[in-house]
Amino acid sequence: MAALDVIAPRNYHREKVAGKWQKVGTELGMPGAVRPLMVGNWKMNLTPKQGVAHVINILSRCQGIIDVDFGFAPPYTGLDKLRDYLKPEFLSGQFNLGKNVLLVAQDIFFEKKGAFTGEISPGMLSDIGVDSVIIGHSDRRTNLGKYFQIGESVLKRMSPDHLAQDIERLKKIDGANPRLIEALSQITGESNRWLLDELAKHLAQELKDRSGESDDVIRKKVLATLGEGMDVILCCGENAEARAENLTFNVIDNQLTRALESVDAVTFRKKVALAYEPVWAIGEGKKPATINEIDDVHTFIRGLVEKLYGEEIAGSARLLYGGNVNGSNIGEIMNLPGVDGALVGGASLKTEDFSKIIRFGLPD
Ligand code: PGA
Repeated sequence: MAALDVIAPRNYHREKVAGKWQKVGTELGMPGAVRPLMVGNWKMNLTPKQGVAHVINILSRCQGIIDVDFGFAPPYTGLDKLRDYLKPEFLSGQFNLGKNVLLVAQDIFFEKKGAFTGEISPGMLSDIGVDSVIIGHSDRRTNLGKYFQIGESVLKRMSPDHLAQDIERLKKIDGANPRLIEALSQITGESNRWLLDELAKHLAQELKDRSGESDDVIRKKVLATLGEGMDVILCCGENAEARAENLTFNVIDNQLTRALESVDAVTFRKKVALAYEPVWAIGEGKKPATINEIDDVHTFIRGLVEKLYGEEIAGSARLLYGGNVNGSNIGEIMNLPGVDGALVGGASLKTEDFSKIIRFGLPD
């Protein structure tokens, strides 16, 4: 990538000039200054041992970097072990770093305790010393549904043959609703085969898109995390179909407004960062959103925060971008007036890339 003419400041206030937000560089430690936040989401990668080695490598390359916050989000199994290496005493002694290195969890469950096999409660994470939790990642909002084959049985039952079998079974049940039998008989007729196939196709797409966590689940997770005193990194973002239909802003408005429904202004300012992650730009083989696309959506999101919490909070809110961020494109992305950091998947597993991301704008 070509060298940037202007390098974004690493600490700044945000001011509105002629109705547009701009970053105005400030000294480190100025009250109210925005500190960028870079978070590596390892997803389902690295054992605890591998994770520690990886983090030590990155910390060695980022010694003395105290003007941006950066965090590591290992799988649950790595959190406890990693905490020992992210304690302020260890960080300041070994790497000249401060409290700016964060332990981040990839997810959480909202109930306090009970019969929820496989889930992890907010108290369990705060007890380990987790600083922040990623909530509403698109892997969880949608992508995992297809692995659990949610809705497959419903789809199977939508074929005329299956429905015909259902009718026969219903007929044998004492007290079965005759109107239901009649209705089912109507829709299974040969002339409706095409209609049923079409409906099944649409339903399959719908299930694929929405078979993960709902906005309501995400709202509960946000509240549960804040309730335990941890910070939230709340993800939002449209899929390819929504973008093609010009629904990007509607989707994001919906996702954020619903997730933040019960979060007051003071809590939002202190504890919440937002991450815009267009689903179509995430993961290997995908291209990041263009600089203009990122700029447009970040401007929209900051406007939404202004509507929800007022201008002052909108100016200082931390909005991250995620989707194929790497060591080469981070400078350009951070140059945007609305971007305050990155949520990084693949490149966070590469020592050099993630170190460059943390060191954006600094000489190698
Ligand atoms: P990516 O993932 O950087 O590998 O595209 C980003 C994310 O899913 O948070």
